[in-house]
Amino acid sequence: MIEIADVAVRYGHGATAVEGLRMRAAPARVTAIVGGNGAGKTTVLRLLSGVLGAHDGRCVAGEVTVDGHALLGRSPAAIVRRGITHVPEGRHVFGSLTVEENLRAGATTQRSSLPALLAEAYARFPILAERRRQRAGLLSGGQQQMLAIARGLMSRPRYVLLDEPTLGLAPLMVDQIRDIVADLRASGIGVVIVEQNAAMALSVADEGYVLEQGRTTLSGAAAVLRDDPMVAALYLGGSAEDRPTFAVGRCDIGTWAS
Ligand SMILES: Nc1ncnc2c1ncn2[C@@H]1O[C@H](COP(=O)(O)OP(=O)(O)O)[C@@H](O)[C@H]1O
Ligand SMILES: [Mg+2]
Repeated sequence: MIEIADVAVRYGHGATAVEGLRMRAAPARVTAIVGGNGAGKTTVLRLLSGVLGAHDGRCVAGEVTVDGHALLGRSPAAIVRRGITHVPEGRHVFGSLTVEENLRAGATTQRSSLPALLAEAYARFPILAERRRQRAGLLSGGQQQMLAIARGLMSRPRYVLLDEPTLGLAPLMVDQIRDIVADLRASGIGVVIVEQNAAMALSVADEGYVLEQGRTTLSGAAAVLRDDPMVAALYLGGSAEDRPTFAVGRCDIGTWAS
């Protein structure tokens, strides 16, 4: 279990980007974080993967634990070894390297386990097997997203953090990414998925959080959030005219089993 307790994050000398953050993400579950641009979604993932510092950000309050171990202050590499992998927004595959070279770059284990990891990756993503010797820069956006996820899986994570995996993808490819997320869950991995496409994220998630201006305004079972009229109006394509304001205090962490 990943647990975030009362965390605040600040960038540079600016205002806090997230505040009073309380979240949980469990193994073999999909946890969605939805919210508009600038709500703090990416910040939560940077917090969990230890890369806030690289963005001039820091955690100024609260605690984060992974399976009972304190996470704050650990290096990104140590966090990968703890079983968390972050697939950042924008995919960031190495365009001039081949698909297989990209996968090798994601492997943090001894060379002896590389063949097995590659075999697993190609079994999970047959299109990457077909393209293994092609330069990654020649792949479509959706295939690059698959490669970014596959590369993240090369460290055998227990938790995978996905930042906007469907951004800019065609609907058919969005469906494929959804299937991949469900498949990761089925293999026991805890997935934290950040999406502006709330409909997509909540359709595959078990639990979800709605972030607004750095605060959690709603949380609970994804199925309940999907049916929430405020979520529908704000994030699922409802009318913008009757945009409701979130009532503070509706965040009820702890409603789902830990
Ligand atoms: N490197 C940074 N330096 C300063 N402010 C930042 C930085 N990254 C994000 N922010 C600010 O933090 C807030 C949350 O941003 P972010 O986590 O990227 O939101 P989201 O992913 O939901 O769009 C925004 O106000 C954004 O401008
Ligand atoms: Mg973001």
